[in-house]
Amino acid sequence: MKKLGRNDPCWCGSGKKYKHCHEAFDERLAEEAQKGTEVPDHSMIKTPEQIAAIRESCRINVAVLDYVAEHIREGVTTEEIDRWVYEETTRRGGIPAPLDYDGFPKSVCTSVNDQVCHGIPSEKVVLKDGDIVNVDVSTIYHGYFSDSSRMFCIGNVDPKTRRLVDVVKECVELGLKEVKPWGYLGDMAQAVHDHAKKNGYSVVREIGGHGVGLEFHEDPWVGYIGTRGSGMLLAPGMIFTIEPMINMGKADVYVNEDDGWTVYTRDHSPSAQWEIMVLVTEDGHEVLAW
Ligand code: MF3
Ligand code: CO
Repeated sequence: MKKLGRNDPCWCGSGKKYKHCHEAFDERLAEEAQKGTEVPDHSMIKTPEQIAAIRESCRINVAVLDYVAEHIREGVTTEEIDRWVYEETTRRGGIPAPLDYDGFPKSVCTSVNDQVCHGIPSEKVVLKDGDIVNVDVSTIYHGYFSDSSRMFCIGNVDPKTRRLVDVVKECVELGLKEVKPWGYLGDMAQAVHDHAKKNGYSVVREIGGHGVGLEFHEDPWVGYIGTRGSGMLLAPGMIFTIEPMINMGKADVYVNEDDGWTVYTRDHSPSAQWEIMVLVTEDGHEVLAW
């Protein structure tokens, strides 16, 4: 990359001179990289215009999840949830990002009980009393991506399983607290993992979160097995998901070979996941979608 002059327009697209914009930022990143820290590259730093556009996409994503929250109940099939998501997304001018993504056949992922993630909606899956289900919604709006998911408890969920759902939400909240500029992804990971472990749960290792906004899945990869002060440095303008998958039993998972998508816990213990989209700001963070 050609070195920018101090009076050249900044690489971020702000229109400001480099010296009045990201020069100090780049110096700080270079210093950190020198020390061996993993640092984000410029492609991971969103411009204010991109952030505004991603925010609009997130607004739809959240509205669609709100719609699901209002209508989900015992007796609904996951196929119906898929239809709601398709209709509510397209009605608002969006496109469901999962549809045809790598051949995924539906508009949303619905993962019930021992399904960890990437469950495929089906008319055969009828939600019943006591089920827990993750509904993972992702939207493309004017080319910008959003992605978030929630857990839903159907009817009377036994207290032990309900606790899993609640604790995983707490894990995300505790992880979120760690998100700040010049902190590390490992700060967030350790907060998530510590809380899960303290409660006797295990964190899925193979599947994690990701950068998001200009694409569905961008760098960095976001895992939840990490140590404070390690992992990628966080900088203002980064957007990524926090979406730990946490199992009541062992951490091991497998993919259903027949459909090629649905991930299950190996021991068939229940699994829960909440997913939020977070922006690193100048003084902390902002949740863009939940
Ligand atoms: N929404 C998932 C995520 O959180 C990705 C689903 S990919 C799909 O990253 F193809 F299964 F939709
Ligand atoms: Co995601």
